[in-house]
Amino acid sequence: MKITKICCIGAGYVGGPTMAVIAQKCPHIQVTVVDLNEQRIADWNNPDPEKIPIYEPGLSEIVAEARGRNLFFSTDVDNAIDEAQMIFISVNTPTKTYGKGKGMAADLKYIELCARQIARVAKQNKIVVEKSTLPVRTAEAIKSILDNTGNGVQFQILSNPEFLAEGTAVTDLLNPDRILIGGDTTPEGEEAINSLVEVYANWVSKNQILTTNVWSSELSKLTANAFLAQRISSINAMSELCEKTGADVNEVAKAIGMDSRIGPKFLKASVGFGGSCFQKDILNLVYIAKSYGLDEVSDYWEQVIIMNDHQKRRFSNKIVQTLYNTVADKKIAFLGWAFKKDTNDTRESAAIYVADDLINEQAKISVYDPKVSKNKMLSDMDYLETRTKEENLKSLNVFENAYEACKDAHAIAILTEWDEFTTYDWKKIYDSMHKPAFIFDGRNILDAKQLESIGFVYNGIGS
Ligand code: NAD
Ligand code: UDX
Repeated sequence: MKITKICCIGAGYVGGPTMAVIAQKCPHIQVTVVDLNEQRIADWNNPDPEKIPIYEPGLSEIVAEARGRNLFFSTDVDNAIDEAQMIFISVNTPTKTYGKGKGMAADLKYIELCARQIARVAKQNKIVVEKSTLPVRTAEAIKSILDNTGNGVQFQILSNPEFLAEGTAVTDLLNPDRILIGGDTTPEGEEAINSLVEVYANWVSKNQILTTNVWSSELSKLTANAFLAQRISSINAMSELCEKTGADVNEVAKAIGMDSRIGPKFLKASVGFGGSCFQKDILNLVYIAKSYGLDEVSDYWEQVIIMNDHQKRRFSNKIVQTLYNTVADKKIAFLGWAFKKDTNDTRESAAIYVADDLINEQAKISVYDPKVSKNKMLSDMDYLETRTKEENLKSLNVFENAYEACKDAHAIAILTEWDEFTTYDWKKIYDSMHKPAFIFDGRNILDAKQLESIGFVYNGIGS
């Protein structure tokens, strides 16, 4: 089937950028992105494309080009489902916070709601594409809901996981390492797979489009995230050993990364990985393995999370220890709150947990992040439910620039690797601080020697 109308349910970090790029590269396809969240849709429709709800380099330009031409954002979910031949489900699948599998399993309630809505509305055959990251065998549940509650029309379910990373979403979408499409091995399944292959083939070479069965595709996404996160936990584990032995983790990473079997990427030691995906997807993998009775498999992957939690806690402990075992009433400046540079996303950002630990020690945190709003930071803290909103307001001050945030601080902690931090006048910052002035570089982006020559007491990760 030649696709001319696509609907995407979920206008978030994946749905928004992915559909913007499909619309840009396929002007002959009408792409409608729908969401229950009215504010989010209003923000996507903001006449000023610079004010769209997600910050990603290059995204506002693509939205400016395609929006109103063949890219639409709407809250009318039923109508978009009805019109489309192909429906992407790109809703959130967070870790369950209740019931069976609490704290581990993926919460599939939003997925089920989408399936039920598609079943109710569809009057013609549809291809339903799982874009969200899902536990292996979810397609079976979606198919059962569609077939049992639908209007007798035929559905094909495809799995097409998204591999973009935030901060580089547009380049990742324009030049993907691969596109993965899983579908049924029946003739109807293969026809559906081909329809989606043809959409991507508008800009991706066919030999980078990999087709598999549905279960391999679903499981490959969890596996990819587990492998990537495992590399970070592995290098972070070595960073602690480096600190004890006089080895330098950056040198170790360089040395091992030059082995072509290991490769240089994802070996940057840090305060710990954040983001909406790694922890959630590994916990989900751990839960799935456990539910099949594979205890060794689940314990193996769980260690990646245990190491990551340890790394965040280790960072805050180090700040307290270095500041003479007390940070009570001391001002600690945070540069960066986002979970990585070039995004305004803060989900699972290490900054949140480090701030929480330090506020428990009665420190005063002053934060500057180039893209994260004060309200977002405060709501991240409130979400932890460690203390009241009023207490968080008193303990966390947000500044419009780094110089203000660092003034009179006892220490600076770098939590995000924003490029602009490397361009600052560090002498000026040093002069405005309490002495001794400490700096804890949780991203190893600053020049230790230069900072020490100014007078800073420098602490990086793994050296
Ligand atoms: P998100 O929270 O930014 O967006 C999800 C959107 O879906 C929200 O705006 C929400 O309002 C909407 N929604 C939920 N239920 C709905 C319904 N029934 N009808 C209409 N709208 C509904 O989430 P995200 O970061 O875009 O992630 C979406 C999925 O993609 C997740 O499964 C995630 O694991 C996966 N994923 C995310 C990334 C990433 O970098 N963020 C990368 C790859 C895969
Ligand atoms: C990740 C996957 O990379 C992507 O393929 C998937 O689709 C979604 O999840 P994302 O979480 O957006 O993407 O960003 P990523 O670049 O993977 O970084 C995740 C976290 O790991 C960040 O906090 C980052 O700072 C940290 N990180 C990354 C390190 O600490 N060291 C590294 O070497 C790489």
